Amino acid sequence: MRLLVTGGLGFIGSNFIRYWFKKHGNDTIINLDKVTYAADPHNLDGVEDRYDYVFVKGDITNKETVFKVAKGTDAIINFAAETHVDKSIKNAETFVKSNVLGVYILLEAARRYNIRFHQVSTDEVYGALPLNSRTKFTENSKYAPRNPYSATKAAADHLVNAYFNTYRLPVTISNCSNNYGPYQHPEKLVPKTIINALLNNPIPVYGNGVQVRDWIYVTDHCSALETILFKGEHGQTYLISANQERHNLEIVNVILRFIGRDNKLIKFVEDRPGHDARYAIDAKKISKELSWKPKTKLEEGLKLTINHYTENLDRYLKKAST
Ligand SMILES: NC(=O)c1ccc[n+]([C@@H]2O[C@H](COP(=O)([O-])OP(=O)(O)OC[C@H]3O[C@@H](n4cnc5c(N)ncnc54)[C@H](O)[C@@H]3O)[C@@H](O)[C@H]2O)c1
Repeated sequence: MRLLVTGGLGFIGSNFIRYWFKKHGNDTIINLDKVTYAADPHNLDGVEDRYDYVFVKGDITNKETVFKVAKGTDAIINFAAETHVDKSIKNAETFVKSNVLGVYILLEAARRYNIRFHQVSTDEVYGALPLNSRTKFTENSKYAPRNPYSATKAAADHLVNAYFNTYRLPVTISNCSNNYGPYQHPEKLVPKTIINALLNNPIPVYGNGVQVRDWIYVTDHCSALETILFKGEHGQTYLISANQERHNLEIVNVILRFIGRDNKLIKFVEDRPGHDARYAIDAKKISKELSWKPKTKLEEGLKLTINHYTENLDRYLKKAST
């Protein structure tokens, strides 16, 4: 296969490229990435010399570039997006451009050349669940995004579905819960906590830290995407989760324990406006219909993640200061 992966220098995209080459060594991957602050070429150290890997620096909102790189590919997997909620609250313009207009242009290219298209989306499109409820998001949950980031991702999902219903484009969508693992930008909770703990620095936690997230190790997300690409029904949405709900504070405490630091490092800071209380996903559909299951337990995945940041601390320190 010849795959067009967009946003492949980011966290999940780079893990996906590594995962794919491990499993499908004869395939070719074209990685189209704008190289925003969130990208890191080092995320693909060791991959960039492969003859079957092509990197193109470019923007998914640029029609000419997208059509050129999409031509002749068998599938497009779209990871490219602006992803940091706090940044979207300050200024949503690039979010609307990359996350909505960019998806429209990718869909147009897919339509022109009849390419299989997969949109990597988030559980945040469904809004928030009450803290102490047992309800979970399913594929039938109502879209109710609550911040500019999730609103742009929701808009993109609607466009993708519209291209299936209108043009019968072979599309699928996945909405995944919170990922953690190697190569994530230090602005996000898990790497930020690990790096601060390693340096014995204060660890900022929003509000009282009781927000609940459903954590999945990034490689499990990649294997779910692979399953959907091969077995997913066109026009369908699949929710992905490893069924590991934890309070943010609990995640921080586990990391502190593994690194051997005192929880006195925790510093509660003013909460994010409209901070969603709880996300939780019911992943029965992908499990039953496509026989996918996650493999990595949270504690095991966190240890692997801590090892990665410990071994590459210098590089992440430079990134954190940019
Ligand atoms: N991180 C999570 O927990 C999570 C959970 C569910 C879904 N997702 C989705 O997965 C995807 C990848 O997330 P991530 O955490 O790896 O993000 P990331 O911020 O680490 O990486 C995003 C990548 O996209 C690139 N990019 C941004 N705008 C672009 C544009 N206009 N054209 C080309 N490239 C562009 C960036 O340069 C970067 O390399 C996103 O669509 C996100 O919504 C993330």
